Amino acid sequence: MYKMSAKPMISAQQLQTRVKELATEVGGSFEFDIVLSALTGAFMFTTDLVRAMANPKHQIKFIKASSYGSGMESSGKLKVSGLDLQELKGKRVLVVDDILDTGNTMFTLVGMLKEAGITELRTCVLMNKEERRTVDFHADYVGFEIANEFVVGYGLDFNEDYRTLPEVWTLIEV
Ligand code: IMP
Ligand code: MG
Repeated sequence: MYKMSAKPMISAQQLQTRVKELATEVGGSFEFDIVLSALTGAFMFTTDLVRAMANPKHQIKFIKASSYGSGMESSGKLKVSGLDLQELKGKRVLVVDDILDTGNTMFTLVGMLKEAGITELRTCVLMNKEERRTVDFHADYVGFEIANEFVVGYGLDFNEDYRTLPEVWTLIEV
């Protein structure tokens, strides 16, 4: 059994502040056409990020990327649906995900995108668990460096629960 930590690891206010900063950082250093967001985990982060950039020329596409069968361990096999490589051709693309853990999801996804004829691709994640990395992958933009803990909320789940919370919490075994 698991329960939420007594206090959030990252408060709603800290998230809002950092996401706005990140929007300025990304928007000020990378001119792009399309935000490609990985559902479901990145849904809340993506909406806050694009709203903070507020650029009428930014288009948005969602794909579904899943590697977690259930629980806390990745199945290691990535399933991607809704990816249309044709519509990315000749575009500058910002790939957005919730968290870099082993790095397998982003590494595999970026590998698939190499076939698309994208003009320039950069990656942005809300959180990075550097300690957990098993593949050689670094995101161009990172919101928060976090310790090796399982986190939920602000889009992230444990067996599909906790996603709608506005803060990031750690899960504790009880
Ligand atoms: P990776 O492929 O191991 O880097 O894991 C990436 C995916 O696993 C993320 O997009 C999340 O959906 C999920 N994930 C990794 N760590 C956590 C966590 O601490 N909480 C919730 N989901 C996580
Ligand atoms: Mg995910």
